[in-house]
Amino acid sequence: MLAFRSPLVGESPAFEQVIRTIEKISQTDSTVLITGESGTGKELVARAIHENSTRADKPLVTVNCGAIPAELLEAELFGHIKGAFTGAIQNRVGRFELANGGTIFLDEVGELPLHLQVKLLRVLQTRQFEAVGSSKTMEVDVRIICATNRNLEEAIEKREFREDLYYRLNVIPVKIPSLRERKSDIPVLIQHFVKQFNEVTGHSVEAPSGQIMEALAAYDWPGNIRELENLMERMVILKGQGTVDLGDLPHRIFQQYAESRPAGAGALSEWEFPRMVLPNSGVDLRNIVAAFENHLIDQALARTNNNKNRASELLQMNRTTLVEKLRKRGMITAMPKREDMKSPMAGMGMNSLDNG
Ligand SMILES: Nc1ncnc2c1ncn2[C@@H]1O[C@H](COP(=O)(O)OP(=O)(O)OP(=O)(O)O)[C@@H](O)[C@H]1O
Ligand SMILES: [Mg+2]
Repeated sequence: MLAFRSPLVGESPAFEQVIRTIEKISQTDSTVLITGESGTGKELVARAIHENSTRADKPLVTVNCGAIPAELLEAELFGHIKGAFTGAIQNRVGRFELANGGTIFLDEVGELPLHLQVKLLRVLQTRQFEAVGSSKTMEVDVRIICATNRNLEEAIEKREFREDLYYRLNVIPVKIPSLRERKSDIPVLIQHFVKQFNEVTGHSVEAPSGQIMEALAAYDWPGNIRELENLMERMVILKGQGTVDLGDLPHRIFQQYAESRPAGAGALSEWEFPRMVLPNSGVDLRNIVAAFENHLIDQALARTNNNKNRASELLQMNRTTLVEKLRKRGMITAMPKREDMKSPMAGMGMNSLDNG
């Protein structure tokens, strides 16, 4: 048996359990049902199973059952013959046939219409089917992996999903926990994505640490890993270099962090005087004061959605002074014209600095 290889990052006990399961099952032909919230990595897990199987050099064919209109799905899955229906001007090979020898990944299998559930059940039992309009039975050698973020047991109760099919699909269940159920994976995932996007963009943003990491770890990540991945991509692209500040965090994350802090920790939404101890070796006062100033400016911008008028009010300074300071930091280049000031990034809580 070859060593198990996968691009999956995570070291929490809950995630390692998932890895152990897929490692055990990848070399078998058993049907797998992957469940988990949106963005938890179901597709990545399906691919890891295929790539670690004896079928790895054969195709992995993916069908998103929720994205293809029900009336087209049957022909998509099983193919059709010429003249089977209006518009079927020639024979068409279905995805099951394309996957022959390899693996078929039926994503969002919970969306499969009932009449196709019957057909899939037969494929699971016999590996046989007929193309639409054909009476010729075909037989394929495919491994079937399915995924869903729908609760299939509830769908069975509503009679929207066949119970017999569910048991056939659920031979090996792989449940991927949500990110909030395995928060200890957040730091390694962040490191991974920051490194990845630095490599892709040629930037050199440092992975968040300290209070920023605390804030990211406190957040619930309803969009799971996809949400975290997208945020890291944005931070690396917009920041370019240096460290991420609290002010760079989207408001929802900042908010949740501020609310999660114990009473004694001092509210982040109120003015906090940093408690600093002068080290024996002394400090570079100008640098420290500048860093402190930038930190508060960044927070004011984040909190006002980059509205410089409101940010300067929060900081009790002139808008012109604020703009001048931002220009010195290279955060604004030229004076934007009024009509240029609507940014597609406004509302993301990032320093697009174009919001008034
Ligand atoms: N453990 C992980 N390590 C690294 N990247 C991951 C991990 N899990 C997910 N990802 C990345 O997160 C993103 C979302 O993963 P994926 O598309 O597999 O999720 P999904 O569960 O299929 O989501 P959906 O239900 O919305 O289809 C992808 O870009 C994927 O590469
Ligand atoms: Mg998916």
